[in-house]
Amino acid sequence: MQFEALAQQYKTPLYVYDFDGITSQYEALKNAFKARKSLICYAVKANSNLSVIRHLAQLGSGCDCVSIGEVKRALKAGVPPYKIIFSGVGKRDEEIKEALECGILMLNLESEAEMYRVETIATSLGEVARISIRVNPNIDPKTHPYISTGLHENKFGVDLDTAKRLYIHAKHSAALDPVGIHFHIGSQITELEPFYEAAKVVSDLVRNLKALDIELKFFDVGGGLGIKYSEEETINPYNYAQVILNTLKGLDVTLVCEPGRFLVGNCGYFLTRVLYEKTNAGKRFVVVDGAMNDLIRPSLYQAYHHVELLDGKGEETPADIVGPVCESGDFFAKNIMLPLTQHNDVLVIHSAGAYGFTMSSNYNTRGRAAEVAVEAGQSRLIRVREDFETMIALEEACL
Ligand code: LLP
Repeated sequence: MQFEALAQQYKTPLYVYDFDGITSQYEALKNAFKARKSLICYAVKANSNLSVIRHLAQLGSGCDCVSIGEVKRALKAGVPPYKIIFSGVGKRDEEIKEALECGILMLNLESEAEMYRVETIATSLGEVARISIRVNPNIDPKTHPYISTGLHENKFGVDLDTAKRLYIHAKHSAALDPVGIHFHIGSQITELEPFYEAAKVVSDLVRNLKALDIELKFFDVGGGLGIKYSEEETINPYNYAQVILNTLKGLDVTLVCEPGRFLVGNCGYFLTRVLYEKTNAGKRFVVVDGAMNDLIRPSLYQAYHHVELLDGKGEETPADIVGPVCESGDFFAKNIMLPLTQHNDVLVIHSAGAYGFTMSSNYNTRGRAAEVAVEAGQSRLIRVREDFETMIALEEACL
C-alpha cells in the first residue's frame, strides 16, 4: 500500500481501506459455509461508509443494522430489503414502523415488551412482522467485558424459557411471523468453544420449538469473530463454520451470520502525521495530528493497534504516541519502540477498519477524517474531510 503517496494526496488524518482485502475476507467466510444455505449480513456498525457497504452488497452480502439510520444506509448502498436485519435492545416506535414499511428480512426482538410494541405497530399498519428472537445463552465469550454480550448480566436478549414463551405467543399472533432465532455473545472472540456452546444451546431450542410446530427458517449466529491485532491466535473461518454447522444436523435452516470486525478490521489503516516530539522529564512523547476523536479504541478499551513509522531508521527508544486532544487518555500507543521522528513523518495505525471511523466524533471541534478506498491499485475518496462549516451548520441554523 502506497501510504506516503496517499497521505500526500488526501492529507491526514486519513482512513484508508483495502477493498480487495475486504473481498477476500468475505469470500473466505462465505466459502466456509458452503455446505449449507447461508446469508452473511455485514454488521454495519463496524464501518458504515456507504462505499464499504456497497462493496459488500456487490459481493452478495446483506446487512445487520442497529438503527433505522443504518437500515437506510444499507438500502441507499444497494442492499435489497430482504437481506436486511434490524437488531438492538431499544428500537423506537418510528424505527419499527419504518423498518416494517421497508419490508426488511426480519426484526430481531430483544424483550417481551418489544414484541408487544412490534405486534401493535404491525397491526396498525396491516402488516405481518417477520421476527426473530435474540436468545441470551449465558455463555462467557472470554473477551473484553465492554464487548461481551451473551451473559445474563448483560442487557441483551432474553433467556431460553422466555424465548420459548415469546415464540408460542408469536405463532398465534396474526401480526407476527416468527422466522428466525438469533444470538450474539460478544465481539473479538478468539476461541471456538463459546461459539460452539452457544450454537448448541440455541439449536436445541430450535429442535424444541419444532416439536411445538414452530418451524424457524433462519439460524442467526451473530458476529464476534476475532482478528489479529497483535500476536493473538485467531479462529480459522472453516473451523468456525464447522463447529456451528455440527450443531445444526437435521435442521433445515439458513445460516445467517453478522460479522463486522472480521470483514473490515484488518483492511483499514489510519494515517496520521507527526507534529512534534517532546520529552517530559525523560518521558518521550510523539504528538501526531490524529486523536482519540478519530480512533477511540486505545483510549476506551486499552486496545492494541500496531503503529508503523514509514521509513523509520535509527535507534529505537520507548515513546507514547499521543494526539492533540485535551485528555491524558488521548493516545494511540504507549511505550512502543520507535526511532526518532521528524515533523510530517507518517505513522500508520493498523487494524483500524472496524469501529474506527464509526466511533469518531467532533470532540474538541475536530472535523472527522477523510476516508479513501484502494481497489486494484487505484485509490478514490469515499468520504470528504469534514470542514468547519459542516461541523457548525446545525447550530448556526439556530443562532
Ligand atoms: N451483531 C450484533 C448484534 C452486534 O451487537 C455486533 C457488535 C455484531 C453483530 C458485530 O460484531 P463483530 O463481528 O464486529 O465482533 N466497539 C467495539 C465493538 C462493539 C461490538 C458491538 N456489537 C470495539 O471497538 O471493539
